[in-house]
Amino acid sequence: MSLGRKGPPEPPLAGEVLDQRRVKAELVVDAWVAGGIDGAAIGAADWALGADWIRGLMTRKGVPVLAANLVCGEEHPFPGGRVVEVAGRRVGLVGVTAGEIPGCTVGDPALALAETLASLGETDVVIGLLPLDVAALGALGAGPLAIDLAITGGVRPPEEGKVHFPAFEAGSRGRQVSILDLSWTAGATQWMRTGQAAELAQRISRTETRLRDAEARIASAADAAARARFEKQRDAYVQQIDRDRTLSAGLVGGLANAIATSEVMLGAEIVDEPKTAALVAGAKAHLTSASPAAASLPVPHRIRAGSPWAGSDACAGCHPSEHAQWAGTPHAHALGSLAAVNRAADEACWSCHVTAAHQEGGPNLPSAVGPFRDVQCEACHGPAAAHVAAPAALHPVRTPSASVCTTCHDGERDQGRFDLESYLPKVSHATAGGPASATAVPPSPSGE
Ligand code: HEC
Ligand code: HEC
Ligand code: HEC
Ligand code: HEC
Repeated sequence: MSLGRKGPPEPPLAGEVLDQRRVKAELVVDAWVAGGIDGAAIGAADWALGADWIRGLMTRKGVPVLAANLVCGEEHPFPGGRVVEVAGRRVGLVGVTAGEIPGCTVGDPALALAETLASLGETDVVIGLLPLDVAALGALGAGPLAIDLAITGGVRPPEEGKVHFPAFEAGSRGRQVSILDLSWTAGATQWMRTGQAAELAQRISRTETRLRDAEARIASAADAAARARFEKQRDAYVQQIDRDRTLSAGLVGGLANAIATSEVMLGAEIVDEPKTAALVAGAKAHLTSASPAAASLPVPHRIRAGSPWAGSDACAGCHPSEHAQWAGTPHAHALGSLAAVNRAADEACWSCHVTAAHQEGGPNLPSAVGPFRDVQCEACHGPAAAHVAAPAALHPVRTPSASVCTTCHDGERDQGRFDLESYLPKVSHATAGGPASATAVPPSPSGE
């Protein structure tokens, strides 16, 4: 339950981007409150929106934040846990926080949680909200804390068996809802995912094969160093098998409570909930009015002199057939697609629908897009102002590689649709109208 996002570390947030993230964070929180929320944890990416601002938001909206390890001054601004009654069961919720918070100390999550857990009283299940990084999560899960299952904030949970509780990753971008169905088995103390028994049996058999392999290699190792390496592998496999057998014994003995998981994709077939839809519409209107420069479609005009970028208009004269072909591809109106859904000013959207975003001489903000609108020639061929000035002497990249495509067709935002073999012909200039050529090249003597 974190507002955070995935991806590489970012520079400190400021200006337009910070404003937009805050509008969106507030939208998410409003939607939580509208839908009913029993517990939330604040992660590092959330604090990056401004510690005072986030605290103010959570308090103002009445979000039941749980942060066992947060101490500001002498006080805990939020409790570490609470118990809610659901269908006659006592569900314990505990949470921690991570990140840099001016004026506060973020303590060791394990110590803080041990104290919180001791204060909860009788519970039927305890759910941990743990927006920690993988290392901290692993350390916590290796310890003896009485947490039955965990929800992580945007990191893939450690492998089962390495932590003592099943862990689930909170989704990102609000595209899906994850549902955990809990059912109790009399006398059971552990929690297991449905289907986990079969998966474990498979994993044990796979590891056993690897173990036999490692043992064979030890027997035939060429030297002491190789032997030591294979022995290390063997030990790791033995440990893995032990862990999995222990887990599996709990399952097969019928001693586990069951967690069935499902995910509902929020596609067009799911009708919008009216209250939430109104909140989204409000936030979008706010984003558009907060960034008027970018809200209206930027008028194409020439890129300033001295830039490494030239813009597609500058190529048309000498490469008319490539230009005509490109103009017929979706790339040539990529920003229009965002504008059509009122998202051209959205800091989370614009960068793949324009050219040269975050590159030297290119735009850093949606309001700075101007002549860099759409996926232009130079998005694939690289900056080409030098080539325009001296076409024969300085060439841009002739054949952009697939890695150029996948900076935007990243497999996540496009929901894995990209497939080079079928996509390349759709943008290739050659397929559109015979062999592409530059008209500035003198015609060959044969007159072709
Ligand atoms: C003044 C004319 C002119 C302009 C403007 C121009 N080009 Fe070229 N371009 C050429 C010529 C001529 C060649 C072939 C050069 C050669 O073979 O020596 C060429 C070749 C290329 C090649 C192939 C390079 C290679 O190694 O074979 C690419 C890609 C290219 N241009 C892209 C662009 C892009 C993108 C723009 C706009 C930013 C652009 N050109 C603008 C004249 C131009
Ligand atoms: C700067 C980002 C960017 C780069 C680089 C890029 N694309 Fe795209 N591509 C897009 C966007 C955005 C769209 C959606 C355009 C729209 O419909 O508004 C798109 C759409 C497409 C489509 C149309 C898909 C469909 O059927 O609707 C194809 C095909 C495609 N790209 C192929 C490629 C290939 C191949 C490369 C690399 C040689 C590439 N793209 C490089 C951003 C990019
Ligand atoms: C990481 C790059 C990236 C980001 C960020 C991105 N897009 Fe796109 N977008 C693409 C690509 C690539 C396509 C083409 C997908 C295809 O057809 O294969 C696309 C296509 C689209 C299309 C065209 C039709 C469709 O639905 O496929 C729309 C509309 C769109 N994006 C909206 C958005 C919105 C809204 C956001 C922000 C919430 C966004 N995009 C952020 C890369 C991106
Ligand atoms: C989506 C990526 C992409 C965009 C956008 C793009 N190109 Fe290309 N271009 C390629 C690829 C890939 C090749 C390699 C040959 C092919 O597949 O056509 C290429 C090749 C070329 C060549 C070499 C000669 C040829 O046609 O094979 C020229 C010249 C060229 N492009 C010019 C342009 C110009 C001018 C624009 C903009 C009007 C443009 N390209 C936009 C991907 C792109």
